[in-house]
Amino acid sequence: MLEILIFLINLQIIYSSNYQQDELLHTPLMGWSSWAAFGCNPCLAYHYDKCLCQTGIETIANLLVDEGFRDVGYRYIILDDCWQDKIRDDAYRLQPNKNRFPNGMWPVVDYVHNKNLKLGIFTDLGMFSGQRFPGSKGFFKLDANTFANWGVDYIKVSAASAKKDNIESDYIEFGIYIKEANRKMIYATSWPAYLYFYEYTINYVALKNTCDTWRFYYDTGNDWSSILGVMDFYAEKQAQLRHIANDGKWNDADILAIGFDGITNDQAKAQIAVWCLIQSSLIFSTDIRKLTFEQKSILKNKEIIEIHQDISTKPGYKLFQHNCIDVWIRTISPSSDGYFSYAIAFVNRNESSGTVIYHIELRDLGLDYINGYEVTDVFAPENSSSRVQLMFPHTKLHAYIKPSGVAFFKAKININSNNNLNNNPLFLTFSNNEIVRYNY
Ligand SMILES: *[C@@H]1O[C@H](CO)[C@@H](O)[C@H](O)[C@H]1NC(C)=O
Ligand SMILES: *[C@@H]1O[C@H](CO)[C@@H](O)[C@H](O)[C@H]1NC(C)=O
Repeated sequence: MLEILIFLINLQIIYSSNYQQDELLHTPLMGWSSWAAFGCNPCLAYHYDKCLCQTGIETIANLLVDEGFRDVGYRYIILDDCWQDKIRDDAYRLQPNKNRFPNGMWPVVDYVHNKNLKLGIFTDLGMFSGQRFPGSKGFFKLDANTFANWGVDYIKVSAASAKKDNIESDYIEFGIYIKEANRKMIYATSWPAYLYFYEYTINYVALKNTCDTWRFYYDTGNDWSSILGVMDFYAEKQAQLRHIANDGKWNDADILAIGFDGITNDQAKAQIAVWCLIQSSLIFSTDIRKLTFEQKSILKNKEIIEIHQDISTKPGYKLFQHNCIDVWIRTISPSSDGYFSYAIAFVNRNESSGTVIYHIELRDLGLDYINGYEVTDVFAPENSSSRVQLMFPHTKLHAYIKPSGVAFFKAKININSNNNLNNNPLFLTFSNNEIVRYNY
């Protein structure tokens, strides 16, 4: 009954928002990128399944399906730099490296499509890619047609060697050719933030006509400070970044560092919580065979994905910072009478602080719905009895936040309070007036 009601509410929200039929990315993108897992590693016979080549990509496609990643939403496999040959063919078309893709791109795209997955590919706006393969400058139309001809679903265009003065107009021009070649191809730009915000005035309307998702800051590296750097940049520019992300167009904060050797699982949780709250693309890039059970559970966390894919309201923002704790928040569905549900992340910036216990009343976060909220501790074990609690505006939330980690909550507006109370008076157990436990 509850499920049906929530479904109807969601449906209503979808149809009453600015949803347009021809939007490509109805919700922010989820997928896997070859970059951190395979990079430019040469393909040698004994590890064809662990490099950027036909076998390697087919192996990842199988793993995405078999391990349940596709079915929770990770549908894009993105071939990053190094898939190309060093030279264009006789007709000036980009061609794949023959050692990596001996049968060309068609069988790879077919294989991926037959698994009900989508294929992304990389190129550069300038003369060369970051790894010195041919870039698309001078060949925008030809390259867009080549990718369309292969059946590619997503094109990531980096700007490693692009000339500063032409970046905006070139991105727009490339986008026009991409959409002309196939309106269904997703166009993702990836230009450095300093160009984006400090030296250029971007015509977002023109860019957004063709571009579906855009990187807004430097790469996430193999350390906590690079993740904090992206978060801080977003927070600094959040008014603009939230404003431009809507109508099926999304900010991209770069790949998830989960599984990197310089990143702890707590840091990975903090990154994914904020990424999902600001509705960045969720693209992980570690070889799936190297992910631990815990890392896989983090990526496939049901609440995380639900919040990430909820498009009823604007992306989230940093609410405030208190000592080393950053508080991030986002309104989500369902809503009622102008009151919203919320996703709230408490990020501990400090790597050496020990666990911080942060207490705050819900109303101090702006949660003032009189019937309260069903508050889910997103990362608590599924079977833990305190995972979901009923809380009211004056209830104190106790967040336990590990060093460079996160406490992540979903506060669902309690619109069915009367039903539950009447149907099952034993449903609620009260404990000393402060926390009300709510056991399903
Ligand atoms: C991090 O926590 C440690 C231990 O409590 C403290 O000494 C240090 O000053 C904190 N660092 C920052 C940047 O707050
Ligand atoms: C919860 O599940 C975990 C993993 O399945 C198990 O180890 C643990 O004992 C369970 N805890 C409770 C309270 O049931």
